[in-house]
Formats: sequence, structure tokens, C-alpha cells
Amino acid sequence: MKVLVTGGAGFIGSHVVEELVNHHFEVVLVDNLVTGSLDNLLNTVKIYQFDINDQEIEYVFERERPDYVIHLAAQVSVTASMNNPFFDLQTNMVGTVKLISLAKKYNVKNFIFASSAAVYGEPAYLPIDENHRLHALSFYALSKYSAEKYIELYDAIYGGNSCILRFSNVYGPRQNADGEAGVVSIFIRKLVRGENVEMFGGYQTRDFIYVKDVAKACRLAIEGEHKGIYNICSGIETSIEGLLTQIFEETGVTKIPVYQPIRVGEIERSVLDNSKVSSSFDWFSHYSLQEGLHETVHYYSTVSSSKLSMK
Ligand SMILES: NC(=O)c1ccc[n+]([C@@H]2O[C@H](COP(=O)([O-])OP(=O)(O)OC[C@H]3O[C@@H](n4cnc5c(N)ncnc54)[C@H](O)[C@@H]3O)[C@@H](O)[C@H]2O)c1
Repeated sequence: MKVLVTGGAGFIGSHVVEELVNHHFEVVLVDNLVTGSLDNLLNTVKIYQFDINDQEIEYVFERERPDYVIHLAAQVSVTASMNNPFFDLQTNMVGTVKLISLAKKYNVKNFIFASSAAVYGEPAYLPIDENHRLHALSFYALSKYSAEKYIELYDAIYGGNSCILRFSNVYGPRQNADGEAGVVSIFIRKLVRGENVEMFGGYQTRDFIYVKDVAKACRLAIEGEHKGIYNICSGIETSIEGLLTQIFEETGVTKIPVYQPIRVGEIERSVLDNSKVSSSFDWFSHYSLQEGLHETVHYYSTVSSSKLSMK
């Protein structure tokens, strides 16, 4: 079975590719390397260095005839989306519409879309399940929300075979500090370099999920040809201060953080419900936060500093 992974050279994408290769899928990538890197990839994987909005993208479908598409390519920075909503819209919404239409045209069996917990906005209740109302608070969240709606309408018109995965805060090796769970990589990078860390508030909570668990969920989604919307999350609420304490333990470095006020507009509490995916995919988050941080700290402690500064 052949899988086309967009954004496969990025943080989550490179782990998805490894997971698929380890389970004997044939994998091809599309990535324009805007934030991704060839360093993240196994040499054996075929990559088309295209933008998902390029005309050539149809050539990839025509030539490769993928059975499945896992669409991860995106503009992932909330701040960048606020500074340039048009760029965000073009990549995240227009790019997704292009891919879903090609997936339908070339009879792709299952289209997996990487959405985000950001679509829920300020929680009305916790833990947030898939029926929670949607309320975008950033252009990034709005682009994911709109892309979801396009996918749902394509499915309603042309036959439903799409699966929307709403990731909580994903962390792990190779993460770019600008991403949604960038706080983990920012803290670890600073501490392993002996630098001070800044703490904005600290009492706010998030649901951190290890990237290998996310990669497994993507594989299970295509293996089961699942459809519908699923939260991919740990279901565990962790404060940023609690996170930092665990990172101190894993790095063996303790530094009193420089406290700053919580950023304006930041959500105070967030944790998602993963019972739907657990029962449908037989998936659960295998890695505890401690285990995930252990592997992540090991990665940042061993990767060369020249490589880290490039990311
Ligand atoms: N990291 C998280 O915590 C998190 C949480 C929720 C959702 N997501 C979603 O997961 C997906 C992967 O995110 P990530 O954290 O791995 O980010 P990332 O920046 O590491 O990966 C994105 C990849 O897409 C590529 N890309 C970007 N624009 C492209 C374009 N126009 N054409 C082709 N390739 C393009 C980049 O080069 C990169 O390799 C994204 O869709 C993101 O919105 C991530």
C-alpha cells in the first residue's frame, strides 16, 4: 500500500514516515522544506520537493497513484497566521482543498487531515470531546476549521472517506520551536545550553502528546480506513510549571525561571478527551509524559548544536 505524506519532512511528518516505513508501507513525500528538513528523513524515502499549491502536485497523484494521503503540510505558527492571514489561508485552506479534490479525482481510499485542538477555542467544559463547539481564536485555528468544513462537504458530495485528527500539543524530537507545543523544545534547548527560561504565567494547562503516539494514530487511521473526527491527545492535563519541573528532572538542570505575565488571549486550561479514538482505533497514548520527555531530552542532548541552530 502506498501512502503520500504531505509535510513529511517536518517534525510530526518525519515520525509518521518512520512509523509507516517500519510497518512496510511504501511512502512518498511532498514537502517544500519551508520548515521541514531532509536531515529529518530516512535516505530511502522518495520526496517531491513541491509546494502543495504548485500545479505539479497533480503530477504526483498521477504518477504515484497513492492508496492513502496523510496531509500534514501546513503553516503551523499561530503568530505568523496573525501577521499574515493570507499566507496562512493559502497554505492551510486552499492547499487542503486542492489535495482533497485530487484525492477524490484519483480515488484515494482514505484522506487523513491533521487538524488541531485550536479549533475548539476557549473550552466550555473539560475534557473537550469532539462534540464541543468550535470557536477559532486565531487565523491559524480558522484555517484548520475551514479546511475541516471543506473536507466534510467534499465527503458529503463525493462520498466520505476522510478522517480528521485533531492533535493536542504534540512534542518530541525534531520539533521546531515555533510549533504549537514549542514550549517543550524551547525549555529543553535552553536548559541543555545552560540558558535561562522565561515562564509566561505557568499555571495554564495543556494536553501534551508524544509525537510517536501521534504517528501511530495516523498509521492506525489508514489501516482501519477510519472516517470522521477524532481527538489525538493524552487526556492528561499538565501545567506549564509542572512540565518544567519534569524537564528539570530529565535534564538534571534546574534554573529558577524568569516569570512574565501570561500572554494576552492565552487559554488558561486545556485537556482533551480521547475516548472516541481509543474505542474506535484501539489506540491509546503509550508514552507517559516522563517517557516522552526522556527521549526528547536525549535527542536534544545528543544532536549537534550546529544542527539545532539551523532549525
Ligand atoms: N505540533 C503540534 O503540536 C501540532 C498540533 C496540532 C496540529 N498540528 C498540525 O500537524 C501538522 C504538522 O505540524 P508540525 O508540528 O510537524 O510542523 P512542521 O512545520 O514541522 O511541519 C510542517 C511541514 O510541512 C511543510 N510545508 C509547509 N508548507 C508547505 C507547503 N505549502 N507545501 C509543501 N510543504 C509544506 C514544511 O516544510 C514542514 O515539513 C500541521 O498540519 C499542524 O497544523 C501540529
